[in-house]
Amino acid sequence: MPQDHSPLDPPAHVAFPKRIKTFVKRAGRTTTGQSNAIAQWSSQYVLEYQAKPLDWNAVFDTQQPVVFEIGFGMGDATTSIAKTLPELNFLGCEVHEPGVGALLMHIHDMELKNLRIISHDAVEVLEEMIPEQSLHGIHIFFPDPWHKLRHHKRRLIQAPFIESLLKKLKAGGYIHCATDWEPYAVQMRQVFKTFSELKLQNSEDGLYSQRPSYRPSTKFEKRGLRLGHGVWDLVYQKTTI
Ligand SMILES: C[S@@+](CC[C@H](N)C(=O)[O-])C[C@H]1O[C@@H](n2cnc3c(N)ncnc32)[C@H](O)[C@@H]1O
Repeated sequence: MPQDHSPLDPPAHVAFPKRIKTFVKRAGRTTTGQSNAIAQWSSQYVLEYQAKPLDWNAVFDTQQPVVFEIGFGMGDATTSIAKTLPELNFLGCEVHEPGVGALLMHIHDMELKNLRIISHDAVEVLEEMIPEQSLHGIHIFFPDPWHKLRHHKRRLIQAPFIESLLKKLKAGGYIHCATDWEPYAVQMRQVFKTFSELKLQNSEDGLYSQRPSYRPSTKFEKRGLRLGHGVWDLVYQKTTI
């Protein structure tokens, strides 16, 4: 019998306003392992979308600072960071189903206690589910660059979105973005520059940050660097002004 409901589907009563999406749901087969992981472990590790703020005490076993990751892809960096920094909790957000399955497999195999997933549009999750001034950090690694000019409106890093991020960050919290598309890196810098409460961290040139040691260099990134392509990290701390 074909299944007509996935554990990742939003509850039927939730309605969403129409807006420009920062993603397209990519075609890409969910492997049997990933489907099984979704069926078996979603109830343990995947939060259901809800239009009200989360209670972090109810989400994680241990109460410690929370980092929200937007668009974790296949979850390789997410897994590595959650393992490296057990003193932090992580909530990863991704709409791509194979990625959710892949990350569930990692969480289960590595017995990661400090990582939860939400499979929904991060823009809506941020608005509705993340309590104000509650985040220690926000990770956005290699957001879709939307190369064509007519698609730039789909880019995640734009001033109104950063304003929403800032409302959710605690004072002293950070936003960490990385991209391998230089024009997008430049746009990011221009956007961030307009927020006086954001201070660039760990920079030698005053333009970009050094890659923090917790962010692993991915296979794709290493290959790019060998071919002479760049990667730009931007880490900003929210200061009180
Ligand atoms: C280019 S991939 C990078 C994935 C991963 N961060 C990495 O470094 O390999 C961007 C990812 O962001 C996800 N994404 C884009 N917009 C999103 C949104 N609004 N909510 C959740 N995920 C989103 C896409 O589905 C895609 O998997």
